[in-house]
Amino acid sequence: MKAAAKAHTNIALIKYWGKRDESLILPMNNSLSLTLDGFYTTTSVEFRDNLTADRFYLNDRLIEGVEYDRVTAFLDRIRTMAGKSDAFAEIHSTNYVPTAAGFASSASGFAALAAAAAKAIGLTVSEQKLSILTRQGSGSACRSIYGGFVEWEKGIKADGSDSYAVPIAPADHWDIRVAAVVLSSAEKKILSREGMKRTVHTSAFYPAWVDSIPDDLAALKDGIMKKDFEKVGGIAEANCLRMHATTLAANPPFSYWQSTTLLIIQAVQGLRESGIPVFFTIDAGPNVKVLYLPEHEETVRNELLNITGVHDVKVSKPGQGVSYI
Ligand code: PMV
Repeated sequence: MKAAAKAHTNIALIKYWGKRDESLILPMNNSLSLTLDGFYTTTSVEFRDNLTADRFYLNDRLIEGVEYDRVTAFLDRIRTMAGKSDAFAEIHSTNYVPTAAGFASSASGFAALAAAAAKAIGLTVSEQKLSILTRQGSGSACRSIYGGFVEWEKGIKADGSDSYAVPIAPADHWDIRVAAVVLSSAEKKILSREGMKRTVHTSAFYPAWVDSIPDDLAALKDGIMKKDFEKVGGIAEANCLRMHATTLAANPPFSYWQSTTLLIIQAVQGLRESGIPVFFTIDAGPNVKVLYLPEHEETVRNELLNITGVHDVKVSKPGQGVSYI
């Protein structure tokens, strides 16, 4: 009863921002992401008869506390599905996601965990079912089941059975690049979970955010299919700015940005003014991800590395979906 899986992280071009159900992790809006080859997690899960509780090792360290609780609560769902309530597991996860890069390792982490645990306990699940299961560990993780461009359909049912990811175009559809710009010092952030909640409940701009999604989605999908980089980058950047605007109108207001975040935004705008098509997007933290085409790799990298407060730049290409190892 042992299985292992590998999953990549993803970057949302249209963000998931706000839940309609906290416990089942059901979103207010559809989102659309690109799976990235540069950042991933490998996880092995072994259900063993001699265990009386789960044991979770992350990067060879035995984990306790909140992180452990999140993993066992997730395995509880899998035990229930399999009808094996007393099957406990030893889990080993390795994150190839530099935490400082500002990529939530929860996306690749929960996708790899769901795939490995379901297989190890003997469940046969379709990719759609696996996406639904993964969503209940971490929302954005449900998109990492697939490679390339992936949409997460919010669904409308109360039980979440129609809220899952759908592949839009595979990784080899289009060679675009995403540079994760790592800041030298990133302050402790408001977790996405908390940020979303406060925004949904208090931000005057939140309804406008939700209203803006259908048009963005339709245009983004059209841009992806036609490989129209200016269109895709423009929509992703505007969507990111709207998401961050909702935080400024929350009560109490907050922002994920730091001074270096703005310097990077200005550098991207400067490159664009000089004729290079390049766009940014930012998740629930201060680090920036920059989208560009392969032919501009050197120019973009050099420009970003020159900014005061930038520690590193890590480049990704479109990546594959979850796989068993
Ligand atoms: O799934 P979570 O709880 O890590 O939330 C992710 C939220 C954003 O990264 C800001 C947007 C997204 O769609 O990934």
